[in-house]
Amino acid sequence: MSLIDNSPEMYERLLGLRVVRAFTEDLIAPEQMAAILEAARWTGSSKNRQGWEFIVVDGDRLAALAAAGDFTDPIRNSTATLALVQTPEGNPFDIGRVAQNVMLAAAALGLGSCPITLHHQDAAAEVLELPEGFSCQYAIAIGHPFEEGEKRLREARRAGGMRGRKPIDDLVHRQHHGG
Ligand SMILES: Cc1cc2nc3c(=O)[nH]c(=O)nc-3n(C[C@H](O)[C@H](O)[C@H](O)COP(=O)(O)O)c2cc1C
Repeated sequence: MSLIDNSPEMYERLLGLRVVRAFTEDLIAPEQMAAILEAARWTGSSKNRQGWEFIVVDGDRLAALAAAGDFTDPIRNSTATLALVQTPEGNPFDIGRVAQNVMLAAAALGLGSCPITLHHQDAAAEVLELPEGFSCQYAIAIGHPFEEGEKRLREARRAGGMRGRKPIDDLVHRQHHGG
């Protein structure tokens, strides 16, 4: 019996999840978006408060949303972007959990995605027409992966020295920091 007999595909998905920033012009089927939103809805949250709402942005509004962050080309290129709105009872950890579930659900459906920081909070709130007390710091750009474009982007990043992950020994300690 292998160590991860229960769900090897799931473990592989976890290890293999990479951001996608280049998308084709193929549309996201309404059922696909519904499945992503369902995964978002079922995310666990602190005290089950579910302090989030989701805004699906597409078409002309993508450019306006992209203007609310500094590295937002994936939003401009996306087929749709899911704005992760934190309600007054929400917290950033829960928003992070939703983000990961959205990305994993997208991957399970054959879609690519990329989390995006909206650095300009006031601009994001204005474009998304958020009520008082609501905020949106992160959005997930989603679409069908454009393999060739993605390969080019990855090569450029690798040439710039951005790749891989830190070695496990640099990250994990036993009993205390440095142990
Ligand atoms: C909180 C958060 C914010 C991010 N913001 C951006 C962003 O604004 N623009 C962008 O292109 N990528 C953004 N990313 C994607 C990261 O750059 C990416 O997760 C990281 O480089 C790992 O890439 P990989 O999945 O290809 O290994 C963000 C990721 C996280 C987790």
